[in-house]
Amino acid sequence: MSTPNRPFVLLNMAMSADGKIATANRVVTSFGSARDQAHLLELRATADAVMTGANTANLPGITLGPGGLRYQRLRLRRQLSEFNLRVVVSGSAHLDPGADVFGETRSPLVVLVSGKAPVSRVRRLEQAGAVVGRFGTGSVDLAAALVWLRDQWGVRRLVCEGGSTLNDSMFRAGLIDEVHVTVCPWLFGGRLAPTITDGLGLPNLKAAVRLQWTQTRRVGQELFAILQVIHPPSPTPLPRERVWHRRAALGQSGRR
Ligand SMILES: NC(=O)c1ccc[n+]([C@@H]2O[C@H](COP(=O)([O-])OP(=O)(O)OC[C@H]3O[C@@H](n4cnc5c(N)ncnc54)[C@H](OP(=O)(O)O)[C@@H]3O)[C@@H](O)[C@H]2O)c1
Repeated sequence: MSTPNRPFVLLNMAMSADGKIATANRVVTSFGSARDQAHLLELRATADAVMTGANTANLPGITLGPGGLRYQRLRLRRQLSEFNLRVVVSGSAHLDPGADVFGETRSPLVVLVSGKAPVSRVRRLEQAGAVVGRFGTGSVDLAAALVWLRDQWGVRRLVCEGGSTLNDSMFRAGLIDEVHVTVCPWLFGGRLAPTITDGLGLPNLKAAVRLQWTQTRRVGQELFAILQVIHPPSPTPLPRERVWHRRAALGQSGRR
């Protein structure tokens, strides 16, 4: 699929059988098997950058790095940089400068904020080692940020790893191309437990994101699935001759 101005974006999430990505206390980050963890690192090893929202990046143990020597070597064999770029979306700059994601220093950490992020908080993130990019006013203009990531950081393929608020913004902006989901043998329940995409959501069926199954594979007790996002066709501008003919048919001169 062509994504001429921005990176190709794939979303990778693990979910319970009832569609939750964490329990209601929202602290569970990993409930998948070792196979699922390897799958996550394998996907990272296909991408230039890994991205999450601030709440996910604030969780302990989250570094967004390649995950060890084996994957660093795999990246090099694929002619990717040894360490992937790490990107955190934090509109109000609520990302904690003491979070573990700042402990990994072998690749740059880019934090995407919006115009409403207070300068003092942005400065603290920069002092902690982050490169801050400001896009949009109320919320982060993710489409513009992705173009910048491609142009300025050479990001051609990006893995988005949640959480549900960031996923919602990405889906609503039409910026996800492929969804990788691991269905795990758990049932979490609870209205407060997040799902793959919460936030505002899409208002009706017409606006809903259409997916197409491309792969399903059961390994042990987990189901690994890949779904392609069917992007609505963008309106094609009429070629000049057809504009002329249409105007002529309508009895207009078509000249200015
Ligand atoms: N099962 C899985 O595969 C998986 C993977 C990842 C996370 N999770 C779970 O997901 C939960 C976290 O999800 P979450 O929805 O609470 O948080 P999240 O999406 O990780 O982060 C939300 C924050 O990201 C920023 N953000 C996202 N979109 C934005 C936009 N368009 N503009 C500006 N800022 C934006 C905001 O930061 P500011 O507050 O700075 O404005 C917002 O508060 C955790 O429970 C975690 O365990 C599960």
